[in-house]
Amino acid sequence: MTPEPGTPVAAGRTASAGGPSGSVPSAPPASRDAPIATEGLTTSALHKAFGDHPVLRGVDLTVPDGAFAAVLGASGSGKTTLLRILAGFEQPDRGVVAVGGVILDDDHHHVRAERRRIGYVPQEGSLFPHLTVEGNVGFGLRAREGREAEIAELLERVGLSGLGHRYPHQLSGGQQQRVALARALAVRPHIVLLDEPFASLDAGLRATVRADVRAAVQRSGATAILVTHDQDEALSIADLVAVIRDGVVAQAASPRDLYESPVDPDLARFVGEANLVEGTSYGSTAETSLGWLELRDGHRPARQQITVLVRPEQLRVTPPPGGGPGVAARVVEAGFHGHDALVHLVTEDAAAAPMIARVVGGMKLEAGARVTIKVVGPVHCWPRPSAGAANPEPPAGEEEGEPA
Ligand SMILES: Nc1ncnc2c1ncn2[C@@H]1O[C@H](COP(=O)(O)OP(=O)(O)OP(=O)(O)O)[C@@H](O)[C@H]1O
Ligand SMILES: [Mg+2]
Repeated sequence: MTPEPGTPVAAGRTASAGGPSGSVPSAPPASRDAPIATEGLTTSALHKAFGDHPVLRGVDLTVPDGAFAAVLGASGSGKTTLLRILAGFEQPDRGVVAVGGVILDDDHHHVRAERRRIGYVPQEGSLFPHLTVEGNVGFGLRAREGREAEIAELLERVGLSGLGHRYPHQLSGGQQQRVALARALAVRPHIVLLDEPFASLDAGLRATVRADVRAAVQRSGATAILVTHDQDEALSIADLVAVIRDGVVAQAASPRDLYESPVDPDLARFVGEANLVEGTSYGSTAETSLGWLELRDGHRPARQQITVLVRPEQLRVTPPPGGGPGVAARVVEAGFHGHDALVHLVTEDAAAAPMIARVVGGMKLEAGARVTIKVVGPVHCWPRPSAGAANPEPPAGEEEGEPA
């Protein structure tokens, strides 16, 4: 590839750093070998099909420099395809990939994987079985003075000091994942791509390794993109979560915004348990079968037909005796999860859908128990699709707010 004069194409600059094994010296910024100052990673209108099967249909994604992002999507939604394009192993059919304003892929450019300074931890076990931990970590590093110290430092960074002479089969799953990460960090990447790195670990180990990996990536200063189909994982590890659906990013937001204010009911269900309740808005409140609820997102037109999202932990369940304020309901089933329990309930409103509430694990609720439920805190809502036709906006000047 021959970059246009003045075109800030990464290959022209990373090539001088010696590809994946090129170390970044602590030279002044003027050095040709200095790392590229990144402003994050962006993809724009990224398309990719395999044969006549479109996988990515216009992925727009921005990950700020230094952020830890998660890409969340169902199996087969194109997560690995996206990561492989970012890493340079696949070429997009259309669209742009840029890091720090430097184009890596567009209609005219394709910077080769080894010149991208992007570390990649693939989905499947990727260690060379015949190499020791040190051999694996140092695989992309040239033989030179300081190489051993560099490997030792990388192993320390991922918490594996002293295990350099072991072979992969002598390591636990979590340790193997950390070796793969150390190898990805060895090229001093601007960006680390992690493809479901914790999928094969058991629940206990996963939380620890997840925290270790996040800490190691952050210490390295790299921007990270982790792919997962585990909502809890995405919400707990990332600063930014992008949900891929139907080949596009359906929503990219902070974990809290994604969970509390998803763009539509399907996305609400995808990122967690969701009670969807119909109602009518009056300014910043809504009338529903669960009573008058406060709306999270400010004012809505009066008398708009809406669907309200009530997360299970927003339902306060009060068992008898005494009961409490709220709506009468009956327990159908309680699923005990140790730290908490998910309680399935039906209200006395026969037309209302069953509800799910999250209660602390110690609360004993048997099937058939009579309780009251009450929504705590503000709720998110969407206008219902038919609202426009059936319920025109009120005439100008009509008061918003709860009717007296
Ligand atoms: N090289 C290929 N040739 C043909 N089809 C492919 C190829 N790679 C991926 N696909 C198809 O593209 C779709 C997306 O695959 P991809 O591996 O990106 O999904 P994913 O979101 O990573 O799934 P998972 O969560 O199961 O890992 C799938 O239907 C897959 O079969
Ligand atoms: Mg995958």
